[in-house]
Amino acid sequence: MGPHPFRLISSAEEIPALAERLARASVIGVDTETTGLDPFQSRLRLLQLAVPEEVIIIDCFHLTREDLQPLAAILSAPRPIKVAHNAKFDGKFLLYHLGMNLDGIFDTYLASLLLSAGSESDRHGLEPVVARYLNRSLDKQEQRSDWSGTLSAAQLAYAATDGAILLPLYDVMWEWLDKADLLVVAGIEFDCIAPVIRLELNGVHLDVERWRGMLDVMRTELVGVESELQVALSGAARQFNLFGDPEPINLDSPSQVRDALAHLGIEIEDTREWRLQRLAPDHPIVGTLLRHRHLSRNLSTFGDNILEMLNPLTGRLHPEYRQIGTPTGRMTSSSPSLQQIPHSEQYRSCFSAPAGYQLIVADYSQIEMRILADFSRDEALLGAFDRGADLHRQTAADMFGLSLDQVTQRQREYAKGLNYGLIYGMGAEGLASRLESSVAEATSLIERYFAAYPRVARWLEEAAQRAVDDGKARTSSGRLWIFRLDPLDPQQQAALRRVGKNAPVQGTASDIFKRAIRLLDEALVGMDARIVNAIHDELVVEVAAPIAAEVEQLVARTMIDGAREFLTRVPVEVDVVIADAWLKGK
Ligand code: CTP
Ligand code: MN
Repeated sequence: MGPHPFRLISSAEEIPALAERLARASVIGVDTETTGLDPFQSRLRLLQLAVPEEVIIIDCFHLTREDLQPLAAILSAPRPIKVAHNAKFDGKFLLYHLGMNLDGIFDTYLASLLLSAGSESDRHGLEPVVARYLNRSLDKQEQRSDWSGTLSAAQLAYAATDGAILLPLYDVMWEWLDKADLLVVAGIEFDCIAPVIRLELNGVHLDVERWRGMLDVMRTELVGVESELQVALSGAARQFNLFGDPEPINLDSPSQVRDALAHLGIEIEDTREWRLQRLAPDHPIVGTLLRHRHLSRNLSTFGDNILEMLNPLTGRLHPEYRQIGTPTGRMTSSSPSLQQIPHSEQYRSCFSAPAGYQLIVADYSQIEMRILADFSRDEALLGAFDRGADLHRQTAADMFGLSLDQVTQRQREYAKGLNYGLIYGMGAEGLASRLESSVAEATSLIERYFAAYPRVARWLEEAAQRAVDDGKARTSSGRLWIFRLDPLDPQQQAALRRVGKNAPVQGTASDIFKRAIRLLDEALVGMDARIVNAIHDELVVEVAAPIAAEVEQLVARTMIDGAREFLTRVPVEVDVVIADAWLKGK
């Protein structure tokens, strides 16, 4: 590709005329060059705005926030459409450094993910996307060059090209989205970017002292558990070193652990977690071994490394969200991975509200089951939700022939496992291992379950069959997952049926969640309240204490409104609590 015409702007007088001109455009390509990746510790160097005739390159080192204000309304308005590749990155710099909200976005990165429909092999950087959709090659050599000094001709040409390419890319990708019926879901995704920009900049508060204290307690316990295991296991193994002392065994070595257990008369094939769990009730030493594994794993995954992720400028954690983290559209986060933080109170209480604030912790109640009820129109399932019944309790009562008040907590958990097991497309064998029952028991449970919820059975069967016949699944928003599985291979067919049942349900849950995030983000404008955490079906809002009760209502209402856009029949409920930390009130 040849160089693209550009105009470099470094004086404030040019900005108002530029703003007027841009306001008349229907589509603008937006890109930035920055001195690094972290918006808090790096600087915004260039803002490239592409219109068909040329690329305007603004040197932000020579212009103040105030100089650039005339552009703010254009960048945040629904029109002109702003085309960007991974707009979240540029948006974070624009918001943090210039106070501008990037919205009205067409994101070619998210568009590429949607068009790939779950393909694991496609790459989604600007270079591969340009190659795939425009059949052009893009030279990214200057990307990581030093953007903080005097700009070279090569750097300016690179900046211009990166901005200019977005316009033809938009034209082509819009057509592809349209042809693939993906425009509606693309709209949901694009609308969610501005809230996610704020979510990442907001970050989440961690009580560092409490976290350190928790780690100390765990380390102390680990030392005790370790010596207890060494005494019991190395003594049993009777491996002595040259000096006649028992040789310590390596607790991380499965073969050494297995041999040592064998010396104690505990024979196992391997030391996988589930095997150990089965033995633990009869052999306390196995329980201790599991505890050791649990502690050392947690200490290495969620230990001091989390403290290293604290941003030196804000003192908070700023997880990176992947908006389309899975083929069903679920969001995931990393550094740290919030969805993997252990659910125990010990951990979650460290994610506390800073002084003067409270947290509103809100999650949908049984959202996938409600989606299933809405899709299948199963009368028993809808009836349960209409009555405001506790679904898992109801299921337990139906399965075990008990009255509602006879159901124990354990039976309720069991029924929950069954409810989710079946929508995750598990067969009798999978269910048996999930519920720790025999396959025969699981089979009869499934039969009873489907007798109680006949239209659920039919809906799941049809979804499975559709996956086999069409090789893909969609949500009502159009979110698409093309299964790269061979229906003629029995094992792959089983997997196909499994994802076929689950994809529309989980995909709809993602659609709902993203609409809710957008609605809530809009509702919180101007309030001392912000979304600080979003995982799966749960939102956490940090709110100034005096307005917590008011915002609690707002959170519940907007989450229900988000769901109502996709569900026509079933009632939706949200569990909301005001808390001092990331804990459910229950
Ligand atoms: N989940 C699951 N399997 C389980 C339990 C939970 O897959 N045995 C997943 C589901 O995606 C569920 C989410 O975890 O939506 C949240 O779990 P939880 O709140 O325990 O599920 P609910 O159905 O809301 O149960 P409860 O009424 O007890 O809150
Ligand atoms: Mn729940």
